[in-house]
This record gives sequence, structure tokens and C-alpha cells, in this order.
Amino acid sequence: MGATKLAANPGFSAGLEGVTAARSGLCSIDGQQGRLYYLGYSIEELAQYSSFEEVCFLLWRRRFPTASELKALKKRFVECRALPEEIAPHIERLPKDAAPMGVLRTLASLLCNLDKNQDNGVAANEERAVRMTAQFPTMMAAFHRLRRGQKAVAPHPSLDHAANFLYMLSGSQPTKDEARLMDVALILHADHEMNASTFSSLVTASTLSDLYSAVVSGIGTLKGPLHGGANEEVLKMIDAIGDASKVEAYVRESFRAKKYRIMGFGHRIYKTVDPRARVFKEYARNVVAGTDSERLFNINVRLEEVMQAQVGSKGIYANVDLYSGLVYQALGIPPDLFTPIFAIARVAGWTAHVLEYWQENRLFRPNAEYVGPEPRSYEPVEKRRQDYSKA
Ligand code: ACO
Repeated sequence: MGATKLAANPGFSAGLEGVTAARSGLCSIDGQQGRLYYLGYSIEELAQYSSFEEVCFLLWRRRFPTASELKALKKRFVECRALPEEIAPHIERLPKDAAPMGVLRTLASLLCNLDKNQDNGVAANEERAVRMTAQFPTMMAAFHRLRRGQKAVAPHPSLDHAANFLYMLSGSQPTKDEARLMDVALILHADHEMNASTFSSLVTASTLSDLYSAVVSGIGTLKGPLHGGANEEVLKMIDAIGDASKVEAYVRESFRAKKYRIMGFGHRIYKTVDPRARVFKEYARNVVAGTDSERLFNINVRLEEVMQAQVGSKGIYANVDLYSGLVYQALGIPPDLFTPIFAIARVAGWTAHVLEYWQENRLFRPNAEYVGPEPRSYEPVEKRRQDYSKA
């Protein structure tokens, strides 16, 4: 067979950088100025005045709720928090040392198998979005307690979403400040335009698969250390650095050895400080004051200074993951739950984007630029070379 020269694709962009993959009216980012908006509302104002429940409504319905709508959504969350009875035995059977993000992925998938409703209309999917958002904290808290040999704590009917999550984790009611801290963390993570996990949710949804599968894709994608998994890695890194005086040498050595990325820094879109990092930094500063964690906070501050001098000109600045771990640590949350908290918040964004995308669905099916061998003939096994490694 004659070899055909396959043309290179001039549209290739590694990592889809600069490619606009969908239209969305939910979230916008100004990466040069470090601004983030949900439906036109700045993340700073939402973090200051809003609640996670209100932000969920905003993302799902594209407007703020009235007082009675907000009350109704909060009530619905409370009603949906308890897990279907089939879930508990599965959580008990999971290995105690399983990674929580894998646990969340598995349990989200199980929710799909338990949903016998065949209706795939907007209202049914909005209801699924509410249920998943209400149940993810219950799943994670139950797994966390069971792996430590403790009994799961039933949801508290009069606590808001964030406060109830802390309550189910620890078994005691959080203070107002603690609950607010968690609420802000969930608001900051609820959505972020066409991030990798939202994109993978949309790719799955675009085949007209179901909402659970889209969310499961999102969880699997969020888990990686280049995306949501970075928050856990930051804490490991600053623990390893140990002291602010050692930051410069650590960064220098990392760059010299091309060892790995400095976690909590860099972003595809932001070329300045991620606005969520600014909000988290101030909360972190307050919660660590006078505690042992002040040392870790100071390491982060020094990392920011050293990184700015080293790679600020390349647009590499602090991202959302740099300070979030310190806030969670102050709330008594172990590092392997940091990324699940991200998912507990981002499920609102994933589902909102899928619901929006389905209104004008089109299958995602990009091209690949082929760089393999030219067309050739099949070789019977007895005629193949014996050792390809020497080819
Ligand atoms: N530390 C050191 N160098 C970095 C970092 C970093 N954190 N981030 C980017 N760079 C450098 C790269 O080495 C590369 O340099 P070069 O051009 O000299 O080769 C350049 O910046 C561009 O890097 P890319 O990987 O091409 O940028 P991309 O947009 O693909 O990556 C990413 C973005 C993955 C977030 C990257 O900045 C990174 O790995 N950061 C660390 C992990 C992290 O914190 N992830 C969380 C991101 S926020 C979120 O998802 C919630």
C-alpha cells in the first residue's frame, strides 16, 4: 500500500491552551487582573456576604434566590443529606486506607445505580444536583469517621450546609467562626469557568450520558496534583521545608534540579495572584495567629516572595491551593480530605455547567494531530521481528 503523507493540524494547541471549548454564562475570569465572578458577582463580595447554599442557587438558576427560595433550598438540602440506606454497607466495606477522593468517586457512582428515575428532564436533573451536593459531605464525613473506628454522625437538621459538614466530621457543633470559614471555602471553590474537571464533566455530558457520570468524571479529574490535588501537596511541601529561612534554598534547588513544580503556584489563566488565594490568605493569617501553624503560614508568605522574584515575570503566582490547606488544618481537617472538600463545593459548578451545556448540547469530539507511522501492511506474527526493543 502506498504511503500517504498525513498533513499536520495547524490548529493544535497543547493542553487546549487558548481554545474556547464552550459558551457559558456562569463564571468569568480576568486572568491578567486576577478577577473572578460568578454570574457577574465578584468572588470577594460573594465570600463576604453570601452563603454556599445561595451560591448553589445562583449557579443552578442563574440568579439569586428570594428569601423564600433560599429557605426552600436549605430545607431541601437538609431533607436530602441522609444517604440512601444501601450506601452505608458499601462505605463500611471500603478499605480504611482508601484515598478519600477515590471513595467519593466510587460512592458518587453508586448513587447513579440507586437512582431508578428514568426522567432525564431539567427538573429531574436539578433535583439530582441538589441531592449530590447535599450528600457528598455526608459520604465523606461517614467514611472519615468509620476509617478512624468511630461511628458515623447523622446530619444535623438545623445546621447549614458548611456547619453540618464540620459537625458530621467531628461530632460536635462548630463555632460560628468555624462554620463561616468552611462556608467561605465552599463558596470560593464552587465554580471556576472551564477548569479541567468541569471540562471533563462536560465531555462526558456531551455524549448525553447521565449527570452522575459527568460528576464522576469531574471527581476523577479534580483528584490530580496539577488540579485539585495540589492543596494536599502544598501542606506536604511546607512541612518538608520546615521554616521560612529555608524557602529560598528549597526553591533554588527545585528549579536547579527541575525536580517538580512548586505546588500552589501557577495557573493556566491567572497571570497574577489568584483572587481566591488572596481571600484564603487573609482567613489563614487570622486562624494561624498565635498557633504553631504560624510557622507554616510564614513559609507560604516567603514562598510568594521568592517565587515572585524568580518566576513572577512568567506570570507564576499563588493559586487557590496555596493557603486553603492552612485554613482546613486550623479546622482540624486532615490533609487527605482537602481535595474532597474541593469536590464537595465544585459539584455545584460541575452540575450547573452540565445543565447549562445540555441546553445547546453538542458532542465534544476534537481532533488529534497524528504523529505515528504512515499507513502500512499487516505483518503475520511469524514474520514479525523477534525483538522490537532493538528496533
Ligand atoms: N512551579 C514552577 N514552575 C512552574 C509552575 C510551578 N508551580 N507552574 C508553571 N511553571 C512553569 C513551567 O515549568 C513552565 O516553564 P517553562 O516555560 O520554562 O518550561 C511554565 O511555567 C509554563 O508551565 P505549564 O505547565 O506549561 O503551564 P500550564 O498552564 O500548563 O500549567 C499548572 C498550569 C498545571 C497549574 C502549573 O502551573 C502547575 O503545575 N502548578 C503546580 C500545581 C498546582 O498548584 N496546581 C493547582 C492549580 S489551581 C487548580 O487547579 C485548583
